Amino acid sequence: MSSPDSYQPRQFNLSGLKGISDQTLEMHFKLYEGYVKETNNLTNRITDFIKDGNVDQEEMPAYSEITRRLGFEYNGMVLHEYYFDNLQTGGGTGDPAKTSEFVKAAETTFGNYDIWKADFVGIGKMRGVGWAICYQNPANGRLSNHWITLHETGNVAGFNPILVMDVWEHAFLLDYKPAERPKYIEAFFSNINWTAVEDRLKKLTGVQSARA
Ligand SMILES: [Fe+2]
Repeated sequence: MSSPDSYQPRQFNLSGLKGISDQTLEMHFKLYEGYVKETNNLTNRITDFIKDGNVDQEEMPAYSEITRRLGFEYNGMVLHEYYFDNLQTGGGTGDPAKTSEFVKAAETTFGNYDIWKADFVGIGKMRGVGWAICYQNPANGRLSNHWITLHETGNVAGFNPILVMDVWEHAFLLDYKPAERPKYIEAFFSNINWTAVEDRLKKLTGVQSARA
């Protein structure tokens, strides 16, 4: 049974991407919905375990396993939302405007946008199943790129995702061969919604100035 405040899958208006088919997106939305469902399911099961105010010894193995899986399902849900939100229906414009806050932030941390991109793309090509994510440290505004294994290993506590790229094979297998991940990464870049990326940075800038 779901609690009233369970997560609901979000709807994303994405179609006509360049090099990422609608068929891939449909399949990907279904997978995302699975993460939302499992997040709710595990949360409800944990609620059941703790409602008597105690985790009994005989409950501990099942309780532990479910709790460990929570980070996988939660991050699977949240990272897919970031990913779909930073894509743009009909395709994007390629690289961001040179005057954008994102390019400025990349220059501050990496020297220039191309070096930032080389790092992000390099991470995306790493062998394994996971994500390439550009984070911003809200304490100093600096960007850093990270490899996330599965959904939950490698996220930096308190850092804010600015650009999120799914490099699980399900993100591109209907459109490319497993060894063609670089082509998918190229397609991903041609579909980035840089306005959404910019808004994530601006929100952070607002938080920082409010603190100052
Ligand atoms: Fe995915």
